Formats: sequence, C-alpha cells, structure tokens
Amino acid sequence: MNRGLRARALSVLAANDRVTYTVPSGLLYPFQWNWDSCFVALALQTVGSPSEGEDRAWRELETLTRHQWTDGMIPHIVFHTDHDGYFPGPSFWGTECSSPAGTPTSGITQPPVLGLVLEQLWSRSSQDDSARLRCRALVEAVNRWHRWFGLARDPQATGLVSILHPWEAGRDNSVDFDRALASVPITDLPAYERRDTTVVAEAERPTDDDYDRYIALVVLFRGLGWDAAALHDASPFRVVDPGFNAILLASDRALARLGPAVGHPEIGDEAARRAAIGLDALSELWSPDRGQFVCRDRRSNLLVDNASIGGLLPVLVLDRDDVRLHHLCTQIEEWLQLAPFGVASQHPADAGFDPQRYWRGPTWLITNHLLAMGLRRTGRDDLADRIAGSSRSLLERSGFAEYYDPLTGAGLGGSTFSWTAAMAIELSMPHPSPLGEVDRLGDREPPRL
Ligand code: GLC
Repeated sequence: MNRGLRARALSVLAANDRVTYTVPSGLLYPFQWNWDSCFVALALQTVGSPSEGEDRAWRELETLTRHQWTDGMIPHIVFHTDHDGYFPGPSFWGTECSSPAGTPTSGITQPPVLGLVLEQLWSRSSQDDSARLRCRALVEAVNRWHRWFGLARDPQATGLVSILHPWEAGRDNSVDFDRALASVPITDLPAYERRDTTVVAEAERPTDDDYDRYIALVVLFRGLGWDAAALHDASPFRVVDPGFNAILLASDRALARLGPAVGHPEIGDEAARRAAIGLDALSELWSPDRGQFVCRDRRSNLLVDNASIGGLLPVLVLDRDDVRLHHLCTQIEEWLQLAPFGVASQHPADAGFDPQRYWRGPTWLITNHLLAMGLRRTGRDDLADRIAGSSRSLLERSGFAEYYDPLTGAGLGGSTFSWTAAMAIELSMPHPSPLGEVDRLGDREPPRL
C-alpha cells in the first residue's frame, strides 16, 4: 500500500475522532457505533507513539463498554451528543430505563467482534501492568455481554442466538432478512423522516418499506420497556444468523485464550465451554445444497434458502480439516470470479443480488477483513491474500467509501468512512495476525505508521 493512501486513511480517522470515541462518518453516522469502534481500535493502536496508540485504542473500547447496560448488553449506538443528522436519534429509542445514567443509547446490539478485537490488541500491546489491567476489565465486560446473549437471545438454550432486528446483524437489508422482515406489521407507525437518503443516493440504501419495518420493531420494543426477557418471544423478527453466531463463537474462543493471559482463567474456561456448544449447534445452519451456512427463521423454524456473506463467515471458527471449510473456500473463489472487486455481500449470480444496494451485493472491507482472518488461521493464506488484494485495489481506486460495487469497484454510500480507513491501516501491517496466536505474537513489535 502506498504511503499516500496510508496518510489519507489517518486523516479520515483524525476527522472522525471525538477524543474518547470515533464516529463512523461525520455526516451519516454522527455517534459511536459498536462494531465500527472495535474495528477502528485496531488502527488507532498503531497511530502515534506506541504508548499513545495503545492508550487511544483501549480508550475507544472503554468508552463503548462504559455504556454497557446493567443486564450485560452492549448497545449498538451510544448517543454521546445531541445531533439531528441521524434517525432514529437518542430521543426516539426511549431507553432511559435500562441504560446507565447519563448517555442515551439504542436498545439493540451489534455483532460481538469486541472479544476478537481485544485479542488482537492485546497481542500487539506492551502487555505491561497497565495494559493487563485495562484488557482485564474489557474481558470482564465482554464476558458479561456474552452471558447476556445466552440468556436474552437463546432462551431455549439451543447454543445459537437470535437477532431481533436486522440492524443487529450489521447487515441491515440483507436478502437473508426479507421474509422475516415482511412479517413485521407496519400499521400505526408514527410519522418520521429518514435522514440517510439526504446524504446518500436512495438506490444505495434500504428502501422506505424496509425502513418502516425497522422503525416498527423499535416502536414495539420500546413499548415493552426494553425488557430483554420479554423481547425475544414477542419479536416478530427472530433470525439465527450464521455470521453473527460465528463472530460470537470466535470471540468466545478469543476470550478462552485471553482470560488466562489477563488473570481470569475462569472466564477462559466459561468462554471455551460456550464456544464448544455453539460450534456444535452451528451445524444445524449448514445447507448442503448451497455449500455454505444459511440463516434460520426462529419463528417458523425454517432455514432461509439464501446465500449471503453471513453464511461464509464461519471460516472464523471451522477446523482446517472440516470439509465444510473447503466448501466455503470454493464459494469464496466462485464469488470472486463472478464479482472481482469482492467479496460481495450476496451471491453475485443470485436473483436478489444488487451490486449497489448496501448489504444486497456491495463489498465491505470489514467483512473482507473477517474472512481473511478466518482463512489465515486455517492456513488458506492464498485465498486471504486474494481478498486482501481486492481490498487494496478498492481503496486505491475508490478511496475510503462505506462500501463498493463488487463488479466495477466504484465507491458507494458515505465517502470518508472510519472503518474503511481502519482496514486500510490494518492492511498495511506487514504481518496480518491470525487468530489464536496471542502468545506467539506477544513479542512482536506493532508496526508504526
Ligand atoms: C450501517 C451498517 C452497520 C454499521 C453502521 C455504521 O448501519 O449496516 O453495519 O455499523 O452503518 O457504520
């Protein structure tokens, strides 16, 4: 990656830096988003002197976990300031009863990449007493969050958790969710005004009908007082997403390794147990016809016959001799052949594929990062390198877009996006760090920019 690009990535992050947290994009998303902050922390760790970078990265995550709910949930948005540039903003959620005093938050969560990211940060940190203390507190927060997932999102103890809103998947308008979302009633919706389409072309965003249903779910949950014990069974949208569950499992495995390293062996054991149960249960989302994992609609108990990137993310957790891993790699290769600026978010030959509309086709660098991470841990560096190469050419061609057209490489959505800039910096690291290498990586110097 050329130095100019790296310098530009740093200036995108600097512009979106709010000292204790980073906004995804000043115009479109002016608050703190959960998984965005986690990915951004990886890059922040390498900015400035080693101690400055490390301090800033821990702080990004500490700001997020400071707003963890008393029941353990870490919300998807923290509304640190008042800003009318985003809808639904702080006043709409009505979460005062559940969120810690002071700062309003949303009432739903997001993909739990925090555990995974913590392991990477720790492995590249100074590992001195201060780092250990800070990482230890974050490990405790992550463990509380993961326990909450079990209680609130898997009340029947199946080993897999549901998402109750497409925003929780982080893949808002994926084809995966069309059917389940269509069953969400939209009668009696309050009048509201979208803000996203004043900044980004409508053709690149979810439709108005999608939005009505997103808002209807928020209104329903708000009416239930955000009581996690009531939400799961009351929600007309309950989907078991293989990508979300794979991220949770990978984070639990990261905790299993990290717990003992920061003085919490019992958290390590607890996380290892959860991961083993979840990995077993993940098998029920395998589709032999598709050669990948698919969602399950927990209301109807039916598998959702659709091939999205969510079903490829289990590369994060499968063993290297698992035949399903080979099928997933074949899928990734096929998708890259059909859409060279990939990896697309939806199978490029599918009827539902739309190369410009958000999570229905476009390529996102954070999912590329997760896929590459998973592939490296199973020894498929060749395929991880191809994905990294695709990410680099997107950055060079189209800058720090929110997402990209996988057929043409054109930039789409917001244009100065924090997590895209963070992934550019991550790609400039000479040794991408595979998972499970916490000890070996401990003595490796983080590269400075
Ligand atoms: C969109 C994305 C979500 C992301 C958020 C902020 O809602 O779908 O994954 O966290 O924007 O960037």
